[in-house]
Amino acid sequence: MAQDPEKFDSAMATWQEWQDAPWGRLRYTLAEANLMRHLGEGRGEGPLRILDLAGGDGGDALRLAARGHHVTVVDLAPAMLAAAEARAVERGLSERVTCVRADVHALPADIVEGGFDVVLCHNLLQYVDDVPGTIATALASLREGGLFSVMAINRHSAPLNVAVRQLDPAAALAALDSDLLRTEMFDSELTLHTAEEIIPVLSDLGCREVRHYGIRSFCDYLTDDARKYDPAYYTDLERLELATTARAPYMHTARLFQLTARKRTVS
Ligand SMILES: C[S@@+](CC[C@H](N)C(=O)[O-])C[C@H]1O[C@@H](n2cnc3c(N)ncnc32)[C@H](O)[C@@H]1O
Repeated sequence: MAQDPEKFDSAMATWQEWQDAPWGRLRYTLAEANLMRHLGEGRGEGPLRILDLAGGDGGDALRLAARGHHVTVVDLAPAMLAAAEARAVERGLSERVTCVRADVHALPADIVEGGFDVVLCHNLLQYVDDVPGTIATALASLREGGLFSVMAINRHSAPLNVAVRQLDPAAALAALDSDLLRTEMFDSELTLHTAEEIIPVLSDLGCREVRHYGIRSFCDYLTDDARKYDPAYYTDLERLELATTARAPYMHTARLFQLTARKRTVS
């Protein structure tokens, strides 16, 4: 069922506060660093055409546009897209950022047939009913050999998060067998997934070179949030997160998972 865009638009102030907080900054920094492992400068690829599905107010898109890429942000929520456009103007990136209001499940033909070099699908899966169908839709807009990146909240992190932050073993036990999480920010019930569930979906859809990253393997389990605003502490935390994003076992219990994969090349 399509989400009500008003839920996202009305939370804009809280959402942007979250993005500016240390844990929000880490989310985008780590995702960008992981993408750069596959799109890094020096690969001779030049500016890429990137599609950011459910891209919100451009948290990922603006960073990629600042690197010289052309990014199309698709989202259902008009205020999210307006914020993405305003930020692009502020940062002198409006030539490289295009915003399109659409439901990911009913994309305009020029997007479906766009043959993008990179497609992002970050933090959408928790809102959709048909995960394989959504991933197939995202892959349809990607050129053969192009890079796909999908990110979602990691269900394995939920019981740990409850235990460490609420100090409540009974609630953590209950969370072990639940795939639901309530978000106050967007007044929604989210469905939680794991990388282990999504990797076979990617393989079944013909993806190859699937890589698993953890986003915030430590941050959410350090409960002194105030300290994370201290610049020196934040720098140490960021270095720790960058060092563990692709390191087992830490990535398996990170707050979010990010999977990258290449679309199959049909010869
Ligand atoms: C949590 S925000 C994530 C935004 C961005 N990907 C990020 O991680 O910064 C979720 C976004 O998904 C969008 N969304 C949810 N369902 C959608 C759908 N069916 N089609 C397009 N956008 C959708 C919402 O409007 C919202 O902006």
